[in-house]
Amino acid sequence: MKNVEIIGTGSCVPERIVTNDELSTIVETSDEWISTRTGISERRISLGENTSDLAAKAALEALKDSKLEAKDIELIIVATTSPDSYVPSTACIVQGLIGASNAACFDISAACTGFIFALNTAAQYIKTGVYKTALVIGAEVLSKIMDWKDRNTCVLFGDGAGAAVLRAGEEGIMNTYMASDGINGREFLRCFAAQNKNPFMLESLDVKDKITMNGKEVFRFAVKVMVDSIEKVLEAAQSNIEDIDYIIPHQANIRIIEFVAKKLKIDMSKFFINLNKYGNTSGATIPIALDEMNKQGLLKRGNKVIFIGFGGGLTWGSVLVKWTI
Ligand code: UT7
Repeated sequence: MKNVEIIGTGSCVPERIVTNDELSTIVETSDEWISTRTGISERRISLGENTSDLAAKAALEALKDSKLEAKDIELIIVATTSPDSYVPSTACIVQGLIGASNAACFDISAACTGFIFALNTAAQYIKTGVYKTALVIGAEVLSKIMDWKDRNTCVLFGDGAGAAVLRAGEEGIMNTYMASDGINGREFLRCFAAQNKNPFMLESLDVKDKITMNGKEVFRFAVKVMVDSIEKVLEAAQSNIEDIDYIIPHQANIRIIEFVAKKLKIDMSKFFINLNKYGNTSGATIPIALDEMNKQGLLKRGNKVIFIGFGGGLTWGSVLVKWTI
């Protein structure tokens, strides 16, 4: 069986920066509350670019980094909670925007764990020899599904996209772990799809097509499953935490990461953190962070890196990667 290497990364965030102080003019909040409770200072908000626009820009950057061309890509998976449309998939729109004429394309919905699920899915196709190359993208314009009157949520999220090009190789993805709990947790973080009244209904529907969240429950869940995800992926690879050079966690709240670092006695310097600049961009946080690390030259050939995601569904999971470029 083949292995799967990450051979290029890219990212794109909207230009418009919205600071905590600016948000405090929209809802009753303050820079002090947001910074101390979450670690977020500012986020990027789209002024009209859709999810596919950000995704396509991140994808082109990742392709350039990988030295492949769009037509070399055989599979495109976009992980998103904020697709452009029900039909077509955002992945098909990206295919059109970048001209990846030889790719099969589909979206994955796993909220903030989306990139982990998409990476793992693409890796399985490559490991089994079905495809040799894939483009995996996490992309969100969450600002279009945000309730801008709800201070419990609107201060936390941001827009952005990150992408990675995968290719069959000798080394690379060492292990993956995915889990879900729609039995106990599907109501903690949700956003219903818009639903029109049909001509046979007597009454209109009251559908909450904006993000709602039980922050405390998600916090409790997050710290538990981040620990679980690190332990599971290490166990399966017969590795221990001392072998790991970096951890790229889903960027939701610095307090969640600090809690996990303390619990597992991991130095905070092992965690790459950029949530102060972008807030929580859901499925895009991990590939944006990965691209920043790659561009900053932090990742050295042979480094072992764990990606960890958690989010709505509930969903969670991790990937252990040996860096090969
Ligand atoms: O990708 C996964 C996405 N979600 C998450 O990761 C969320 C996980 N949860 C969290 O990060 C935290 O629970 C939050 C940051 C959402 C909230 O922090 P908290 O320390 O759990 O605060 P809280 O919900 O207990 O709220 C404390 C107080 C409340 O006021 P009272 O009832 O004590 O008077 C809230 O109404 O803070 C109030 N509050 C705010 N105040 C100013 C809630 N949001 C805000 C706000 N600005 N934006």
